Amino acid sequence: MEFAYTEEQLMIQDVARRIAQEKIAPSAEHFDKVGEFPVENIRLLGENGLMGIETPEEYGGAGMDAQAYVLAMIEVAAGDAAHSTIMSVNNSLYTNGLLKFGTEAQKQKYVRPIAEGQAIGAFALTEPQSGSDATAMRCRAVKQADGSFVINGKKSWITSGPVAKYVVLFAMTEPGKGAKGITAFMVDTDKPGFGRGKTEPKLGIRASATCEIEFNDYVAQPDEVLGKEGEGFKIAMGVLDAGRIGIASQAIGIARAAYERTLEYVRERKAFGAPIGTFQMTQAKIADMKCKLEASLLLTLRAAWLKQQSKPFSSEAAIAKLTASEAAMWITHQAVQIHGGMGYSKEMPLERYFRDAKITEIYEGTSEIQRLVIARAETGLR
Ligand code: CAA
Ligand code: FAD
Repeated sequence: MEFAYTEEQLMIQDVARRIAQEKIAPSAEHFDKVGEFPVENIRLLGENGLMGIETPEEYGGAGMDAQAYVLAMIEVAAGDAAHSTIMSVNNSLYTNGLLKFGTEAQKQKYVRPIAEGQAIGAFALTEPQSGSDATAMRCRAVKQADGSFVINGKKSWITSGPVAKYVVLFAMTEPGKGAKGITAFMVDTDKPGFGRGKTEPKLGIRASATCEIEFNDYVAQPDEVLGKEGEGFKIAMGVLDAGRIGIASQAIGIARAAYERTLEYVRERKAFGAPIGTFQMTQAKIADMKCKLEASLLLTLRAAWLKQQSKPFSSEAAIAKLTASEAAMWITHQAVQIHGGMGYSKEMPLERYFRDAKITEIYEGTSEIQRLVIARAETGLR
C-alpha cells in the first residue's frame, strides 16, 4: 500500500476542503438549527465533481479512486457531517450498485444526473420492522404477466427521501426465499404510487433530510429492475461494503474537526495559572485522540485501497467503520469534556460534533452488525 497521496487525490481533497471551509462550515450551525436541506451547498458540491467522485467520466463523474473519495468525504464531514451524509448516499449507496449491475441505458439515465449534481438519489432498504435484519423486509413487488412489477409497502429512515428524484429500492419478489427472494428496482419519485411520509426529527445530522417512503400500487417496468431478479440482497450488501468506507470517512472528518478545535482550546484556556494542555490528564486525552484518528484513517484508506484493487474488502470496511465511528464518539465526547461548560454550549460546535458523531455507530449497519460481519469472517462461523 502506498502511503503518499497521488496528485489527483490531493486535488480533490483540496477542492473539498475549500468548499467545506468557505461555504459549508460557516453555514453548519444555521442548518443544524433549522433542520433544512442545504440546497445551494449541495449544488455546489455537485458542480465541483463531489457527487460522483468514483463515477467514470462517461457517466458524468470525476473518475477518481476510492481513496480520493475517502479524502474528500473527510473534508466535507469536517465542515459539516449532514452535508457529508447527503454526499455519501449520492456517491456510494445510490451509485455503486448502478455502476456494477446497471445496464448502459440505466447508467446514462440514473447515474449522470446525480453525478453531475442535477438531482439527488436515495437508497431504500430499511423498513419500520426490519433494519439490521434486512432480509425480513415486507415491501412486496408482484410480477405481472407483461413483466412489470406492482410494488406495495413502506421503507423507513430514507436519507434524502424528501428530495430524491430517484431511489434504489429493495423489495421482496419471492417471499419465503429470504435473501434470494429480494430484487432491486430503480424508482422515479415523480411516478404515481410513490409517496413520502413526515421528515424525521433527529438528534444530529439535522440538515440531512430523512423520511419514510411509501409504495401504493407503484408500477416498475422490466427496464427498471436493477441487476437480476433475486439478486437484490447481494447488490445491497455489496453496496453497503463500499458505503461503510464512506461512513468511516465521515466519522474521521467529524472527529478531526473536534480534535482541531480542542488543540486550539488546550493552548489558550488557562486554569490554575497554566494552559489546560499542560496538565498530564489533558495531554493523555490529546494523545489518545490522535492515535484513534490516525488508526481510523489508516484502516479506512486500507479498505479503500483494497476496493480500488478489486480485492475483497467486506470485513476491512466493517473494521474501518467500527473503529472510526467508535473513535468519533470517544473523541467528540472528550472534546466536549475538555471544553468544560463551553463544550456544552451551542455557541461552540463541540456539542454538534458530539450529536453528529452518534449516527456513524448506527446507520449503514450498527456497531453490533459490524462486529457480526468481522467475527463471521474471522471464525467462519455464523
Ligand atoms: N457482499 C455480497 N453478498 C453478501 C454479502 C456481501 N458483503 N454479505 C452477505 N452476502 C450474501 C451471502 O453470501 C448470502 O448469499 P448466499 O446464501 O448465496 O451465500 C446472502 O447475502 C445472505 O447473507 P447472510 O446469510 O449473511 O444474511 P443475514 O440475514 O445473516 O444478514 C447482515 C447479514 C450482515 C446482518 C446484513 O443483513 C446487514 O448488513 N444488516 C445491516 C443492514 C444495513 O447495513 N442497513 C443499512 C441501510 S442503508 C443506510 O443506513 C444508509 C444511510 O444511513 C445513509
Ligand atoms: P434494529 O435492527 O432494530 O436494532 C436495534 C438494536 O439491536 C441495535 O443496537 C442493533 O445493533 C441490535 N441488534 C440487531 N440485531 C443484532 C444482532 N444480530 N446481534 C447483536 N445486536 C443486534 N436505511 C436505509 O435503508 N436507507 C437510508 O438512507 C437510511 N438512512 C438512515 C439515516 C438515519 C439518520 C438513521 C437513523 C437511519 C437510517 N437508515 C437508513 C436505517 C439504518 O440503517 C438502521 O436504523 C440501522 O441499520 C439499524 O436498524 P434499526 O434501526 O431497525 O435497529
